[in-house]
Amino acid sequence: MAEDVRRQIEQLRNQIRRHEYLYYVLDQPEISDAEFDGLMRRLQELEAQHPELITPDSPTQRVGGKPREGFVTAPHSSPMLSLDNALNEAELRDFDRRVRNLLGTEPYRYVAELKLDGLSLAVRYRDGILVRALTRGDGLQGEDVTENARTIRSLPLKIETDLPELEARGEVIMLRGAFEHLNEEREKAGLPRFANPRNAAAGSVRVLDPAITASRRLDFYAYFLLVDGTPYYESHWESLEALARMGFKVNPHRRLCQSLDELLAFCRDWEARRDELPYETDGVVAKIDSVRQQRVLGWTAKAPRWAIAYKFPARQAETVLEDIEVQVGRTGALTPVARLRPVSLGGVTVSRATLHNEDEIERLGVQIGDVVLVERSGDVIPKVVRVVRAGEPRRPFRMPETCPVCGGKVVRQEGEAASRCLNTNCPARLKESIRHFAARGVMDIDGLGEALVDQLVDRGLVKSIADLYELKLEQLVALERMGEKSASKILANIERSREKPLARVLWGLGIPFVGERTAQILADTFGSLDKIAAADEETLQQAEEVGPKVARSIYQFFREPHNRELVERLRRVGLRFEQEAGRKAGGPLAGLTFVLTGTLPHLTREQAKARIEAAGGKVASSVSRKTNYVVAGAEAGSKLEKARELGIPIIDEAKLLEMTGGG
Ligand code: IVH
Repeated sequence: MAEDVRRQIEQLRNQIRRHEYLYYVLDQPEISDAEFDGLMRRLQELEAQHPELITPDSPTQRVGGKPREGFVTAPHSSPMLSLDNALNEAELRDFDRRVRNLLGTEPYRYVAELKLDGLSLAVRYRDGILVRALTRGDGLQGEDVTENARTIRSLPLKIETDLPELEARGEVIMLRGAFEHLNEEREKAGLPRFANPRNAAAGSVRVLDPAITASRRLDFYAYFLLVDGTPYYESHWESLEALARMGFKVNPHRRLCQSLDELLAFCRDWEARRDELPYETDGVVAKIDSVRQQRVLGWTAKAPRWAIAYKFPARQAETVLEDIEVQVGRTGALTPVARLRPVSLGGVTVSRATLHNEDEIERLGVQIGDVVLVERSGDVIPKVVRVVRAGEPRRPFRMPETCPVCGGKVVRQEGEAASRCLNTNCPARLKESIRHFAARGVMDIDGLGEALVDQLVDRGLVKSIADLYELKLEQLVALERMGEKSASKILANIERSREKPLARVLWGLGIPFVGERTAQILADTFGSLDKIAAADEETLQQAEEVGPKVARSIYQFFREPHNRELVERLRRVGLRFEQEAGRKAGGPLAGLTFVLTGTLPHLTREQAKARIEAAGGKVASSVSRKTNYVVAGAEAGSKLEKARELGIPIIDEAKLLEMTGGG
């Protein structure tokens, strides 16, 4: 009997897998949705009766996990690099010339693939079963998003292979249709729209609740097959075919090109036809087919020398600028935003574009009512390129003299591009400050979304960041769209944020010019919030990378009575004001600052940086008197000259390896 059930379950699973493959990967379903649902329901019933038979690769197990508190990071099997770009045909020809020079007289072939605009993902399979999915992260370490990735229907939970372990790398994308639909839904729910399908895909994979990922229609296209961090087959084309055989979705629009001309033809063809595709493509990736030749060509610090991304030009369209609205940011800066007559740019409807500030509006000479050219390129927010025709009638934009949100006074200071609302209690500023404070990466207060912050501020429940820590369950439950469960979850998240280290608190305060990195440096240098708050401008400048402008900003921030009061209240609610013990405690390079320049023979820039940091040192981006060592590789440029001028010791990779403990 038990054997019988086991067999029945296995049969159902295989059937379902096959239909999932036909539907989600090949887009050629053989049965109706209802029939498919029927199979799934039978399997669910059997598994409910025999929970001991449930395995993680069962099609019922795509969404199993509960929301998590954060992502764990893990190292990649080999760095996930990015690609150099060719912005036109001439640059593609240059690339080909470099390849030819390096390969000598050998013939070579290119594999041309579409460059899908999404989020790259590395997915590991053990004995054919999906075990882990990592985002690109910083290229060396990625975020473990396995639970979320499992919900992507075209990403197989189980594949056909004899390899005990392998890794598929590829792109997670959202179809344009799904993107437009998602944005409509978000608008209805009072949530901000995603700027483009790429952000939507990335946002959907990087949410803590897999149920949210599951509700978004995402796709995974594989483009690399690795075993132990290196290509398994001798030819890239072969890898792609093998991936397809295993059950992955591999983009059918690819070509094995025997010559540059064939590659150019592929690029031209898709540049003209890209709107036919249901997803966004921002170019063509050309890769040298032979893996042996790839090794001969090698890598620079950032990208392989055997591949290039040919970028399609940004899409442009004409439309009417119907109005200019003003948004108020966290620092009180007023940003003019163009409201456009909706226009489709490569299948995505664009109805707003940023205008940055008054200077930009003047530079463009744009007025309300004008016909303008707008552009959307890959991942950026749409922008107004130029005026095509003056509107009849048209009217000039004038920055309001009072804040559109609170009515407070607006001024534009000497030498500043932005006009600012001076009222530090302006609700728009407060909302932005709270959003920044709670954001992922800062204080990580999950669940404190846009709509909730609006309600909290509008109802006067939160008048300062510190008020977050005094919110009561009853207050939250009384809000719209808020159940008791989510309310207590949010309160728990707020509680947990008290543990965040000093650098996060400092960053969360939203001091102008103090981002993540500067906050960390300040925390490391001074060790306590009180010391930073008390320091004068000169003292502040003793910290690495803190110049006069940043020092003044920090100094002024802590002289503002309103901010001092905030600091005192945050102290009372128990946030961390002291650097946690143990950080920067030691390591052979503690207290030393390095600058990297040129290409090192073995280490990528990220690897060199990671080694230095692991040994307690710091890496700065430019050479100054505060630099202790410059690590120089091939083709080092102006930084090397600067180091020589300042008499800073210059070392090579071998010396760096020695200083960081060999290897
Ligand atoms: S190859 C070292 N192939 O583009 C090789 N990338 O700018 C790197 N992408 O991070 C990737 N489609 O997210 C490759 N067919 C394709 C791609 C592709 C999209 C993305 C990928 C990568 C970025 C590089």
